[in-house]
Amino acid sequence: HETGSLSIVVLGASGDLAKKKTFPALFHLYRQGFLPPDEVHIFGYARTKISDDELRSRLRGYLVPAKGASPQHQEDVEKFLQLIKYVSGSYDSEDGFRLLDKEISKHEYLKNSVEGLSRRLFYLALPPSVYPSVCKMIKTYCMNKSDLGGWTRVVVEKPFGRDLDSAEELSTEIGKLFEEPQIYRIDHYLGKELVQNLLVLRFANRFFLPLWNRDNIDNVQIVFREDFGTEGRGGYFDQYGIIRDIIQNHLLQVLCLVAMEKPVSLRPEHIRDEKVKVLESVLPIRDDEVVLGQYQGYKDDPTVPDESNTPTFATVILRIHNERWEGVPFILKAGKALNSRKAEIRVQFKDVPGDIFKCKRQGRNEFVIRLQPSEAIYMKLTVKQPGLEMSTVQSELDLSYGQRYQGVTIPEAYERLILDTIRGDQQHFVRRDELKASWKIFTPLLHRIDEGELKPSPYKPGSRGPAEADELLEKAGYVQTHGYIWIPPTL
Ligand code: BG6
Repeated sequence: HETGSLSIVVLGASGDLAKKKTFPALFHLYRQGFLPPDEVHIFGYARTKISDDELRSRLRGYLVPAKGASPQHQEDVEKFLQLIKYVSGSYDSEDGFRLLDKEISKHEYLKNSVEGLSRRLFYLALPPSVYPSVCKMIKTYCMNKSDLGGWTRVVVEKPFGRDLDSAEELSTEIGKLFEEPQIYRIDHYLGKELVQNLLVLRFANRFFLPLWNRDNIDNVQIVFREDFGTEGRGGYFDQYGIIRDIIQNHLLQVLCLVAMEKPVSLRPEHIRDEKVKVLESVLPIRDDEVVLGQYQGYKDDPTVPDESNTPTFATVILRIHNERWEGVPFILKAGKALNSRKAEIRVQFKDVPGDIFKCKRQGRNEFVIRLQPSEAIYMKLTVKQPGLEMSTVQSELDLSYGQRYQGVTIPEAYERLILDTIRGDQQHFVRRDELKASWKIFTPLLHRIDEGELKPSPYKPGSRGPAEADELLEKAGYVQTHGYIWIPPTL
């Protein structure tokens, strides 16, 4: 366990990401004792000229639950806010970063006179356009200087570029300033409990080992649905679209963990090596295996151009050209303004050969990992209908977290990932070659959409998305089970 001063600098401190995700995650870590107040100082940095107290009061509302908080919670919020200092400056100003360094050093000096290291974590809650200049400023003015050791790390968020070339350009610029072990590229899906469970499920259970391949699995779906539109972020969203916002990063990362071979060990580099192999085995996407959609009313947002061709829905089939997966479609589907909110992985098995129960039409075995909401792992299977008759029915083996782990609070993705950055564990972060390989997969398709060659079909907000998407699913071999629905158990 490292000790000594730890400075956490949130750049873009008054932006949306910082207020909604970064600071609340830091607060949760603080409450659980991971940020000891005698070691930790938190700095907010942004352009606006405000005082420490003004920043604190802007953040307070995001730390206190809407329903009201216990006196203890209120007290913790106040204590936490006192750890935060604000420094204002622009993202390319020498003066701003010199001042920031001075502020950081002040408290490091105090701490280091006692003992320990100087640890500096820079969290860039900023648009990627300023990453290069900010990184340059950090590198020039704000690196850890302690003779006692320590480190400087930077945390960056997507979008890492818009396509292969721009992503590589960004990586090259940052790469000139920082070594790969200093760069933490966050994909918050990698911090979700059930995503982190994938490796354990796959490689610690004898059940799955012999089944997890093309001989038994017919198709895999990785699905993200939201039941709201781009509310308030139309301007940002329109420049990226659903593929860059969700599929190229979040869903593709999940795909890697579902499809990869067993890593040599749990060392981050071993895991990331296997993920890269999966990405590099993905075949070019075929036009007839893509369905795009845009919900009606999307363009009513004043920040979205009237002629926008940006998809808010996409189903894309990826095919992994290797011994394990040849012929198995990986169906990635994501959409905004649909009829429900959920994210899940659905592994559908092939039919039982020589079926004597004639239950083929009832449904196939499925292994479902519900990432959110109501985290669960369940296996849909055929059983005898209880009763006198010998008939079959679809049922499930259900591991619902809410029920099985009552009283356990599942940590927020950001909370866990920020803790990893402090501990120096890069397992759940995207490596540069991984990023490159993932852009390679989607860039040709994205360029064609950008050029207007492929057009999204309209769909009604609150629907399942364009009907063509269901047709594509069926064509890919997915068999929907009729008359069965898994209902998360209520407590
Ligand atoms: C973000 C996307 O990365 O993930 C958003 O930019 C999306 O568009 C969000 O709403 C979804 O995250 P979660 O954790 O709510 O599934």
